[in-house]
Amino acid sequence: MIDEISSLIQKHEKWRWQECVNLIPSENVMSPAVRSFLSSDLGHRYTSTDKFYMGTRFLDEIEQYGEKLAKDVFRSDTADLRPLSGHIADLIFLACFAKPKDTVLCVSPIDGGYPGIWEKGAPDFLQLQRIKFPFSKEKMNIKVDETVDLILLKKPKLVIFGASLFLFPQPVSEIIEAIRELDIHVGYDGSHVLGLIAGGEFQNPLREGASVLFGSTHKTFFGPQGGIILADQTHGEIIKERIFPAFVDNAHWNRIAALALALAEMKEYGKQYAQQILRNAQSLGKALDEHGFPVSCPGQGYTKSHQVFLDYGGYKQGRLIAKKLERANIIADCGVRLGVCEVTRRGIEEGEIQEIAELMKRVVIDGEEPRQVKKDVVRFIEEFQEIKFCFK
Ligand SMILES: Cc1ncc(COP(=O)(O)O)c(C=O)c1O
Repeated sequence: MIDEISSLIQKHEKWRWQECVNLIPSENVMSPAVRSFLSSDLGHRYTSTDKFYMGTRFLDEIEQYGEKLAKDVFRSDTADLRPLSGHIADLIFLACFAKPKDTVLCVSPIDGGYPGIWEKGAPDFLQLQRIKFPFSKEKMNIKVDETVDLILLKKPKLVIFGASLFLFPQPVSEIIEAIRELDIHVGYDGSHVLGLIAGGEFQNPLREGASVLFGSTHKTFFGPQGGIILADQTHGEIIKERIFPAFVDNAHWNRIAALALALAEMKEYGKQYAQQILRNAQSLGKALDEHGFPVSCPGQGYTKSHQVFLDYGGYKQGRLIAKKLERANIIADCGVRLGVCEVTRRGIEEGEIQEIAELMKRVVIDGEEPRQVKKDVVRFIEEFQEIKFCFK
């Protein structure tokens, strides 16, 4: 039994880490040190806010240390590392600040919003009404004036900025400025861009007037899979009061230790890392555009995040492209969103990004046999087996 499972893990690791170029924008890789914390004894233990369990003194200290680092990195009044995922962080925000029949305004999945806070997702479960941001597909961004009009008309209780297909900073400060008088809780789902915010290379919504920033800790943020909530004092206290026992009991303290170290890495290397991500994403967009891919937003420099969007008009065509690429060991989603977080973490820079674009061109544009290209993909990625932007 053990052999079967461990052999599958080994095959997976050899393939996905040693032989593939990973362009999934919601994935990243942890440093060896962060990863090692996940297998520590903390993964066997409990601690809780009501101090029910004994033997927790070091766990509690690690959590406090991590929270302090998080407040420093994100410049927030409060931090909570307990949400088990980005999705749970969304749920916590919704449930803490809205009640049934209230309205929530978010980006629709049609425009790149997160499906988990749309139809059949957390708002429906909480019996909230959903309305969508007026959105410009051309600019891939929220329309300011129409949104303000909509908010004044519908008076939503919650507004959630952020998205899953996320190319440009959103007009948070402009919109908040215009709705300041209203009793609205403004959150920002930064799951995708959290590492860029931490590195100071994307808007910091908390500095633009949003009350709560939340999201996953494993997309551009290179921590373990999990969630985080950063907030102003008032909102942070409400969340801390309610998170346990309503949304999280065992918060997986091995994960929290790993997250604390990833926060320390971000504090030290976040700026350089985020800057390299932007250079890589913009270079990828430009190179693919020149090769004839349908890259979105050429007039705006393609992207100001880790993502490049290949607009194939829907998942059906996107799936065909992603499958072809997978046969050549280039891993993407069916969006087709391409993300440069993992390749950046492996030390790949603009020059090598051109090579990735060329490999993609051979598969998708030239129609070369993917198995043939795969050999060159494996040869290419062999050179980048070490994780950068971390403590040695
Ligand atoms: C914007 C956004 N929020 C939340 C999530 C959910 O995050 P998690 O997978 O950490 O639950 C995603 C997932 O990709 C996302 O894109």
